[in-house]
Amino acid sequence: MTISLTINGKSHELDVEPDMPLLWVLRDELGMTGTKFGCGVSACGACTVHVNGEAMRTCATPISAVAGTEITTIEGLNEGGPDLTALQQAWVDHQVPQCGYCQSGMLMAVSSLLSENPNPSDDEIDAAITNICRCGTYPRIRAAIRSLATA
Ligand code: FES
Ligand code: FES
Repeated sequence: MTISLTINGKSHELDVEPDMPLLWVLRDELGMTGTKFGCGVSACGACTVHVNGEAMRTCATPISAVAGTEITTIEGLNEGGPDLTALQQAWVDHQVPQCGYCQSGMLMAVSSLLSENPNPSDDEIDAAITNICRCGTYPRIRAAIRSLATA
């Protein structure tokens, strides 16, 4: 089955099974390995990208469900912009990543939150960002988000 997607502003025609998860299309078909596999059951958020601007977990999303959409992955987060987005720079400034495995999904979830709510409270951050980080970077994530919100 041929499925059309726009990923980071570039059109793709993909000949894949319709039930193939979007995560595997990104990683295996397109070689975009910035998006990570964690749990495979929509629980951890490591596989988060934006679909039409909204954060979506891709490990349990069949490609047929996102045909015709515009997808942004971590590779496209600063498309056409400076080297780092303000969000990425805040991550560097607050030294958020530890092992880093969860962080691309984290950045995609947080950037989606900030586009809807530029000044979220700690409670709003906790409610919106349910991604799991085995290294426990949550306090630094909150501090980085707060630095952007008050900038
Ligand atoms: S790998 Fe998709 S939510 Fe965990
Ligand atoms: S930084 Fe290690 S899992 Fe989050």
